[in-house]
Amino acid sequence: MIEFKNISKHYQLKGQTLRALDQINLQIPTGSIFGIIGYSGAGKSTLIRLINLLERPNAGQVIIHQKDFTALNARELRQERAHIGMIFQHFNLLQTKTVAANIEMPMKLLGWNKAEREKRLNELLEFIDLKHKKDAYPDELSGGQKQRVGIARALANHPKILLCDEATSALDPQTTKSVLELLKKINREQGITIVMVTHEMDVIESVCDYVAVMEQGKVIETGSTLEIFSQPQHPTTKSFIQTVLQQQLPINILNNLENQNQHSIYCLKFLGKSAQETVIQAVIKQFDISLNILFANMTEIDGAVIGQMFIQLLGDASVIQQALEFLQANGVEVEQSGVQA
Ligand SMILES: Nc1ncnc2c1ncn2[C@@H]1O[C@H](COP(=O)(O)OP(=O)(O)OP(=O)(O)O)[C@@H](O)[C@H]1O
Ligand SMILES: [Mg+2]
Repeated sequence: MIEFKNISKHYQLKGQTLRALDQINLQIPTGSIFGIIGYSGAGKSTLIRLINLLERPNAGQVIIHQKDFTALNARELRQERAHIGMIFQHFNLLQTKTVAANIEMPMKLLGWNKAEREKRLNELLEFIDLKHKKDAYPDELSGGQKQRVGIARALANHPKILLCDEATSALDPQTTKSVLELLKKINREQGITIVMVTHEMDVIESVCDYVAVMEQGKVIETGSTLEIFSQPQHPTTKSFIQTVLQQQLPINILNNLENQNQHSIYCLKFLGKSAQETVIQAVIKQFDISLNILFANMTEIDGAVIGQMFIQLLGDASVIQQALEFLQANGVEVEQSGVQA
């Protein structure tokens, strides 16, 4: 487990104190893919850089696998750091070195001999599927290929932890997907704990087991990805989720409605697909109102389906009220819906 205990980090700027991290308490389970999301300036990079103490906190402890990293001396810290890999948004490859030389760099720094380096290099090139680019230079590679080289370099010394700061932010959606798949494979096959900083909720959705949401140097919400998606509490978390799940009814659907009374439109949120079908059928059967399904979508997280459905309810106001109460009593979250402009 990676544990942040009461971590604070301040910067002095023009005589003012900037609280980049403010009393952070967070636990990252070993073997998980843990996402840290937040808007620009929230403190994500500062937090991830504290894990290998590239930044030192002003207060608090960083405890990794029961060892207090903040109490290590320089030599001990160097040894521990060698088991933590890091990849970056802009890859940070040496432009004047070949793919092979970039990947071998950390092995050289650790004093491995040529035979050991060759062996590990070939394993890694195989793993990232770039054997044919061994002698190429970084500017001859695509963004996705560069990030694969960055990943191979980070894995060279068999790390236990891999830190990723916006590792896919410079990549197009298709390439992002393949890099995320590679990271997932590293986590599942090698049991490496991955900490992933991002500002994209779909990155969290597609690979993270847990997520922490940051704002102004604080962790405002944390939990399993499924919990956060199904029951977000904080407005900032909700706005991140909005970027993945369509939260408003598309305007063209509204325009095509016969009765355009917006007060008759509701957004329902469900956990589980079968739950959704059963409860809707029950409403139609039990209440003398017309229920019109306008739009539905769903997303799958950890095998669980989170569904969202926009419906129009027309009929007697008190019966509609009863139907809404029935839905809520059956675990469906109900909101009167806005319309997307
Ligand atoms: N070396 C530094 N000196 C002064 N202020 C800093 C320093 N590093 C970070 N900060 C400030 O700390 C706050 C948090 O920065 P940080 O880089 O951690 O944010 P972030 O969440 O990673 O943002 P982004 O999404 O833009 O990368 C910001 O207000 C930033 O300006
Ligand atoms: Mg950052």
